[in-house]
Amino acid sequence: MKSYTRYVCQQCGRVVASYMGRCPQCGAYNSMVEEVVREETTSQVQQKVRGLNARSMPRSLGEIGGEVEERLRLPMGEFARVLGGGIVPGSIVLLGGDPGIGKSTLMLQMAMEMAQRLRVLYVSGEESERQIKMRAMRLLGNKQPVPPELFLVTETNLNLILNHVQELRPSLLIVDSIQTVYLPELETSAGSVTQVRECASQLRELAKSSGISVFLIGHVTKEGMIAGPRVLEHIVDTVLYLEGDRFQAYRLLRSVKNRFGATSEVGVFEMHENGLKEVPNPSEAFLAERLVNAPGSAIAVTMEGTRPLLVEIQGLTSPTQFGNARRTPNGVDFNRLLLIVAVLTRRLGMRLAEQDIFVNVVGGLQIDEPAADLAIAAAIASSERNLPVRADAVLIGEIGLGGELRMPGQMPARLREAAKLGFKTAIVPKAIRKAEPWPAELQILEARSLAQALELALNPAATPSRERKMV
Ligand code: TYD
Ligand code: MG
Repeated sequence: MKSYTRYVCQQCGRVVASYMGRCPQCGAYNSMVEEVVREETTSQVQQKVRGLNARSMPRSLGEIGGEVEERLRLPMGEFARVLGGGIVPGSIVLLGGDPGIGKSTLMLQMAMEMAQRLRVLYVSGEESERQIKMRAMRLLGNKQPVPPELFLVTETNLNLILNHVQELRPSLLIVDSIQTVYLPELETSAGSVTQVRECASQLRELAKSSGISVFLIGHVTKEGMIAGPRVLEHIVDTVLYLEGDRFQAYRLLRSVKNRFGATSEVGVFEMHENGLKEVPNPSEAFLAERLVNAPGSAIAVTMEGTRPLLVEIQGLTSPTQFGNARRTPNGVDFNRLLLIVAVLTRRLGMRLAEQDIFVNVVGGLQIDEPAADLAIAAAIASSERNLPVRADAVLIGEIGLGGELRMPGQMPARLREAAKLGFKTAIVPKAIRKAEPWPAELQILEARSLAQALELALNPAATPSRERKMV
């Protein structure tokens, strides 16, 4: 084992190779102290990781137990749903998201719940143990007992983290964040692609050989995320993203890859002053503040994984003041909005060239699904014509360039959710084939084109061309 000497500033933690009278970072005098660091080579680290368990051995397929993976039960239902039913022992999960969105909060909440029954080690490279303790007390609200099996450590050297794991033998390891941990034998600094990838590979090795479930937190930065979670997506079993508008309370936990469950599953949370609370009925929550019969509002039904979500889409058109008309989407793809506006202009003859157009998805959600096209178009047309969209209707349909409407998938699930929330009518594309029965309590209005659909949506007095009740 190699060892070397380095000097660490007691004031600011700056590390330098040779002694300095004055710290180059914080400027403090005589603050450097000598520190001897023992280096282990990568293969030694690997041996240590493997040493936690027996060596690998090829076995025939028949020999290997085929039972369904036993999962660790997770009390947070929304989180369990996204993971596919609980935590798989020996799996490695990456939780990505913008800084400040609530990743550490979510992980600490999960850790505290799991630590009632299992041993959990929470490694932080970002916050001190005291800071984490303070957050934990805030989350507990000074009521419940402190979970007995939750261990905290502030450490960034992966070798030392692995030592702690070896001593403590936790069932769950949380690393906050993967960008802060490093292997000293690699030349590059923490957060570089090499470090992030190598550290994650070691931690995967740990998970696979010892059965410890590992959660990594990874930051996504707006500027292309150099060493962000993207580098790690193929190393880990499951990739989760925590999304949402920082100025809104709702947070969506989305799985974009999952070796143990469905992808693009979504869990909905709301940020409170003492932590993230689950939102079991998100559609209801998203529609709670809706103004009925106000122009410029339409209800879309989008699918997030297997879960239908009803969301309010707001549109506002306003005469352009200076130069070019602006298109400002919030929660909707910019190019999708341009397409919808182009179809409204060319196929329906609406005069939008000199109108600024704003589209907003209420609740801070980001909608990628074309099934929301019709609701977006209706919200814009409703504002432009100053006519409200029928209050009891949901609008579902993808818009084609010819102004035609197309049927999105999973219609029965969408319609059932709309019926459950008390909507009476659904305006949908005309179906050629209909595989499954649609809910009986909904009146289904079918439209071939966007023009027909808007006629039905904005002018309820007009008799629909063909109206039928589905059974
Ligand atoms: P944090 O989990 O630190 O974000 P990340 O780890 O993703 O960078 O939390 C970010 C925000 O959440 C922070 O601005 C404060 C807020 N917050 C609450 O609103 N309520 C709470 O109970 C906690 C712990 C945090
Ligand atoms: Mg954090």
